[in-house]
Amino acid sequence: MADLVARFRDVFGDSGPVRVVRAPGRVNLIGEHTDYSGGFVMPMALDRAVRIALVPHDRPVVALWSVQFDERAEFRLPSGRGTPAVETSRRAGTRPARAVPGGEAEPAGAPHWLRYPMKVAEVLAEAGVGLRGFRAVVDGDVPVGSGLSSSAAYEVASALALLVAARPDVPAGLAADLAEAHGLSAERLAELCQEAEHRVGVRCGIMDQFVSLHGRAGHALVLDCRDLSFEAVPLPAREAKVVVTDSGVKRRLSSGAYNERRRQCEEGAERLREFDPAIRELRDVSLALFEARADRLPEIIRRRCRHVVTENARVLESAEALKAGDLARFGELMNASHDSLRDDYEVSGPELDLLVEIARGVGGVMGSRLTGAGFGGCTVTLARPEAVEPLRAAVLEHYPRRAGLEPRIWVSEAAAGAAVEV
Ligand code: GLA
Repeated sequence: MADLVARFRDVFGDSGPVRVVRAPGRVNLIGEHTDYSGGFVMPMALDRAVRIALVPHDRPVVALWSVQFDERAEFRLPSGRGTPAVETSRRAGTRPARAVPGGEAEPAGAPHWLRYPMKVAEVLAEAGVGLRGFRAVVDGDVPVGSGLSSSAAYEVASALALLVAARPDVPAGLAADLAEAHGLSAERLAELCQEAEHRVGVRCGIMDQFVSLHGRAGHALVLDCRDLSFEAVPLPAREAKVVVTDSGVKRRLSSGAYNERRRQCEEGAERLREFDPAIRELRDVSLALFEARADRLPEIIRRRCRHVVTENARVLESAEALKAGDLARFGELMNASHDSLRDDYEVSGPELDLLVEIARGVGGVMGSRLTGAGFGGCTVTLARPEAVEPLRAAVLEHYPRRAGLEPRIWVSEAAAGAAVEV
C-alpha cells in the first residue's frame, strides 16, 4: 500500500493527503451459477484485492493510472443522469492523446479497463450520488480473467473511490459506513456495482460484488441471493486449507456463453411455472417438482435446470456440514458440484477437469471443483493441511506435462470485505 501511495506521487506529483480504498476478489467454495436464479452461494473474500490511491480535485474528471495495464486514461463524470465520456487516453510514457469529444457510451479511445469505473460512475450518478473528480493510481493482485472476480473487485473499489472523493471528510473504515454516509446500504451498493457489470456486458448475479463488500476474515458467507440475507460461517483453518489453482487458461468467458446459460435458466423457470405458478426463478423449483416434470423440458434446458436445482440443495447441505465440522461431506459436495458443472451445465473444460482429477487423487484432499463462471480460470480444493504440499507437487508434476500450461497454486485465507484503508 505504501508503494501505491508512492506511485501516486510519482505519477501525479501531488503532495496532498492520499486516500486508499481496497476491495477483494473472491473464491466461491460451492454454489456456482445459482446466484442469477435467486439461489444460494458460499463464497469467501480473498486476500487478494484491487486498491485505488486517490486525491480528489475540483475538475469533474476521473484520471486513472492503471499499474497493471501501464496505461493512463481519463473520463468526465456524468452530469446528472448522463453517460461518462472519455477525455484522454494514453500509454504510459507517451504524450497524451488529443481529447476525444465524449457522449457516446463506448468511445473508441476507452481502454477496456476504464469501462468499469465509468459504468460505476454512471450507476452511482443515476442513484442520486453527487460525484466529484479525482486523480488515482489503481493496482491489484487478483489475477485478471481467472474466475476470481477481478472485475467485481475493481467495480467495488471504483465505487468506494468515487464515494470517498465525494465525501473526503469520511474517515477510514468499513465500506458500509461510507455507503451509509451517502444514504446507501452496503447491499444497495453491491447491486449498483452488479448493474455496472451488466452494462459492461455480463448479466452476472450478485455474488461477487456482495462478497467483495461483505466478506469476513476467516469466514465463508452462506448467501441467499434472493433476499441477500447471509450467515458468516467460520472456516476451520487448522483442519482444512482452501487451495486455489489457476489453470492458466484465460477465462474464455465470452459474455455470450454466460448470458446464454442465464437465458436457459430463465427459460427453464418459465416452462416449469406451468406446473406451479409460484415459481419465479429456479430457486423456487424443488428437487421433487423438477424430477416429476423434467421430461417436459427440452434436453439442454433440463440439464441446465438439474444443475441449478441440485446445486442449491448442495449449498444448503454443505453449510450444515461445515457447521457440524463434517469436512469430508463438504468435500464430497464440492466434487458433486464440479461434476454437475462439467456434465449438466457444461462450463468446465479439459484443463479444469484435469486439475480436479489430479487433486482428487491426492490423499487428504477432501474435494475439488472449478470456481467462478468456468470456461477456464481456477479450481478450488479443500485439503487437510498436511495434504497441501503433496497436492502442490502432484499438480506441478502432472499438469504442465498433460496440459502444456504452467499452473499457479496457492493457499488462500478468507479475508475481510472492502474498506477505506486510509
Ligand atoms: C461469475 C458471476 C457471478 C456468478 C458466477 C458463477 O463470477 O459474476 O455472478 O454467476 O460467475 O457462479
